[in-house]
Amino acid sequence: MTAPRHFLTLMDLASDEIRALIARAIELKTQHRAGTAPRSLEGKVLAMIFTKASTRTRVSFEAGMAQLGGSALFLSGQDTQLGRGEPIEDSARVISSMVDIVMIRTFAHADVEDFAAHSSVPVINGLTDDYHPCQILADLQTYFEVRGDISGRKVCWLGDGNNVCHSWMNAARQLDFELVVACPEGYDPDPALLTACEAHARIDRDPAAAVEGAHLLVTDVWASMGQESEQAAREAFLAPYQLNRSLLDRASSDALYMHCLPAHRGEEITAELMDAPDSVIWQEAENRLHAQKALMELLLSA
Ligand code: CP
Ligand code: NVA
Repeated sequence: MTAPRHFLTLMDLASDEIRALIARAIELKTQHRAGTAPRSLEGKVLAMIFTKASTRTRVSFEAGMAQLGGSALFLSGQDTQLGRGEPIEDSARVISSMVDIVMIRTFAHADVEDFAAHSSVPVINGLTDDYHPCQILADLQTYFEVRGDISGRKVCWLGDGNNVCHSWMNAARQLDFELVVACPEGYDPDPALLTACEAHARIDRDPAAAVEGAHLLVTDVWASMGQESEQAAREAFLAPYQLNRSLLDRASSDALYMHCLPAHRGEEITAELMDAPDSVIWQEAENRLHAQKALMELLLSA
């Protein structure tokens, strides 16, 4: 039996596979709207393990599986034996013997790696403390739909150097664009990852300089899941990095802006930008559905 193909970070796909996946996601979106979606995952079962909250990830994976003829199981950490201390290795062997593909959202990235190492079927990272690669597939799809290829463009990340930022750093080296991370000291992305991405990503402490000429601005919450107790302290440091009209005006005239959601209006992004008629944030959220359908097709075709 060949080893299953996992998607734990964007580095698990080749650059040309990411481009092909985006093209397939766009095709699946068109087919879904036309009522001609293929039954490409007929009879397949996805297990979704969540030890953190979710709206978009759960709905998009579950609906996506149904749209392609398969089905999905929701497993909360608390209600399974995983929550009572059954080893990840044992859970992986058992769950993967019963389903065709697994998606996990949890805290430690090492737990997803551990699960994948003992799984007989593909495992997808649905967000860890370190990475959120599925989000960036949808974000890239959105940029390609609206502006075309992102290669050679300048992207500016504003705020906390978190899991979503890390996945954008991987995207920069995979699709060959420039990523400027605008963040205050103490909120830097992982230094080892920054070194690995140094040809494509750098830090700039000055948000006004960082967004200059950017083709895309991206932000996310200041306190991620698990960091709720740090919210007040984080607001004080991260306030100058708010995505707002004045920073957007310094970017390229055709700049887009994104937020993976859920957003805190008035903190990392203004309500005005969230609700602007030309915002692509809602398109970005919807694209989770189509990008992940393309991802599941790819992993299950291996
Ligand atoms: N963007 C994102 O992953 O949203 P959820 O936390 O709602 O899944
Ligand atoms: N950085 C956020 C993303 C939520 C989708 C978090 O980890 O909570």
